Amino acid sequence: MIMPDWFQIRIRVTLDSMDAVANYLFELGSCGCQELENEIVAFFPNQVSKSEMKEEVEAYLDNLRDLGFKLATNHLEITEIADRDWNSEWKKSFKPIRISEKFIVKPTWEKLDSSSDTFVIEMDPKQAFGTGHHATTQIMVQFLERYLTSPKRILDVGTGTGILAIAAHKLNAGDIVAIDVDPVAVDAARENCQINSATSGLLLFAGEVSALSTYPFDLVLANLNKLVILRSLTLFNNLLNQRGHLILSGILVEESNEVKEAFLKLSDLELFEEVIKEEWIGFVLKKNP
Ligand SMILES: C[S@@+](CC[C@H](N)C(=O)[O-])C[C@H]1O[C@@H](n2cnc3c(N)ncnc32)[C@H](O)[C@@H]1O
Repeated sequence: MIMPDWFQIRIRVTLDSMDAVANYLFELGSCGCQELENEIVAFFPNQVSKSEMKEEVEAYLDNLRDLGFKLATNHLEITEIADRDWNSEWKKSFKPIRISEKFIVKPTWEKLDSSSDTFVIEMDPKQAFGTGHHATTQIMVQFLERYLTSPKRILDVGTGTGILAIAAHKLNAGDIVAIDVDPVAVDAARENCQINSATSGLLLFAGEVSALSTYPFDLVLANLNKLVILRSLTLFNNLLNQRGHLILSGILVEESNEVKEAFLKLSDLELFEEVIKEEWIGFVLKKNP
């Protein structure tokens, strides 16, 4: 018997828990999530054990319920799907989207007429994060649009599809360094940067932020998660130029106090601005000499 290439998990969710569940499924290795009205459908390669996955997801949903999210029980269904179903299913869910005042993201396979004052990012995300549909990406692009007003040296940590590096390039950044620990994401970012003619002044590679210990940046962009951000905060601080800005997201609102306490310990970083979108928070920190 031929094993199907993918399986899907379908979970009934409420609007307030949608992003947290989608983010968790990505962390578990999902290659893509469809966010529908009352449910999430996440796709996984069939190498993962379905029973273990079911247990882990159920434990996570129990935790969310304990935190007060109103999730139904008996809400989780796993089915195997063929490879071609996955491709077409997933592509159907990726539509052009306006993610900020100036930026629209569209898949490479969609046609779109846009006005001359709008930047269009074309994207084939493959298996990387960053189609522009997630609230944290939108927070990052909205901050970037406001803080990148003149050519600056930019670091994009956890570039995913390359979406922030491409946006920075379109906003006329100076040099951009974009990195990701996931080589699959770096391949997707490289292809997307080429599609968007965003390769000049760009250095893109697979690796950890610690590889950049002496290079100073005016803007550091990091849409990661709480644990990686807490672990990397001192390093980000050391990588910032005098008066440089650090733009962060990937942090849940409920985690924000813990992250703020960590900022306070770094006396030369000042919290400049914060924005909440859905259950996610983004911060702009400014270095004070
Ligand atoms: C939430 S996605 C952000 C993608 C894109 N920058 C965006 O804003 O939509 C986080 C990315 O960070 C990468 N990542 C996680 N830990 C990292 C680390 N320590 N150093 C570099 N990249 C990391 C992941 O592989 C993933 O592609």
